[in-house]
Amino acid sequence: MLKDKFGRQIHDLRISVTDRCNFACVYCKSAVTDDYLPQPELLTWDEFLSVARILARLGIRKVRVTGGEPLLRPGVVDFIARLGEIEGLDDIALTTNGYLLPEMAQELAAAGAPRVTVSLDSLRPEKFAKLTRAPASGEKVVAGIDAALAAGLAPVKVNIVLVRGFNDDELLEFARLARRRNVMVRLIEYMPLDGDRAWNRALVVTAQEVVETIHPMFPLLEIPRRFPSETALRYRFADGQGEIGIIAPISVPFCGQCSRIRLTADGKIRTCLFSLKEHDLRHLLRNGAGDEDLAQFVMKVVGEKEPGHRINEPDFVQPDRTMLSIGG
Ligand code: 5AD
Repeated sequence: MLKDKFGRQIHDLRISVTDRCNFACVYCKSAVTDDYLPQPELLTWDEFLSVARILARLGIRKVRVTGGEPLLRPGVVDFIARLGEIEGLDDIALTTNGYLLPEMAQELAAAGAPRVTVSLDSLRPEKFAKLTRAPASGEKVVAGIDAALAAGLAPVKVNIVLVRGFNDDELLEFARLARRRNVMVRLIEYMPLDGDRAWNRALVVTAQEVVETIHPMFPLLEIPRRFPSETALRYRFADGQGEIGIIAPISVPFCGQCSRIRLTADGKIRTCLFSLKEHDLRHLLRNGAGDEDLAQFVMKVVGEKEPGHRINEPDFVQPDRTMLSIGG
């Protein structure tokens, strides 16, 4: 089974199926470079499925399909359906920018209805365009969320990365969105994984600030985590109208409960978002390694999983890869 040397059990896998994206969000993709991985370097769907099967036998229960923008890669819907057929995988989720959901939500529902998380960082069209550097996309993303809800891809989560000076003035509107209750809103602290390397601590809007802003208007009550490795701090509105999640990797790190590993589009295992070292599974896959060799490799790699990210340490080093190519 997959256990690291600190006793953490690994049961979540995030698969980044492409490093391409049609948005260039300020906190993620560089505005200037567009150097995507060449197609032959990407794992094929069959390769991803082989890895998923091996990992399911080692105790992986949940797979989140992410990117880049996963819906851009042809064949992704069929891939999701096939993931759902793997024994042991009981939770399949998808993180998307939502832009293609109006067209694809129905197909996804037919492919096993993964849980869907959509990024929507501003409710104001102009600001949305500025944040995503993708003009006139906000309406389509909102339509995408509606399409996901209509197709029954529940629960739909909405990810909002807070960047000071960009969208922190919308916190009350985000709270109102959460109170509509048909989506689960998750406010996320900005992490140093952006392509422009513009991150600095002053841009992080902390969980405490979020609570202090929302609470006077809409009183909040903290509620316990549903399971130990849950990333979000959860609050419900005291009047019973819905809840909100805050993901606070900077101010309230949750590495001690981490249950995740990541597989990049080019077949590297990352044991932490902030790993400075990757483990090349693709090389093994393409050079005749058997299932047992691959399983042994992953167990060894998991054994070396970092105790935690080092963002709050003075000697922190930002990884070379950005969120775009690691997979959110
Ligand atoms: N900090 C925090 N979250 C990020 N995401 C992307 N980049 C960052 C960052 N620098 C999140 C977005 C997206 C998911 C894939 O990852 O919320 O929904």
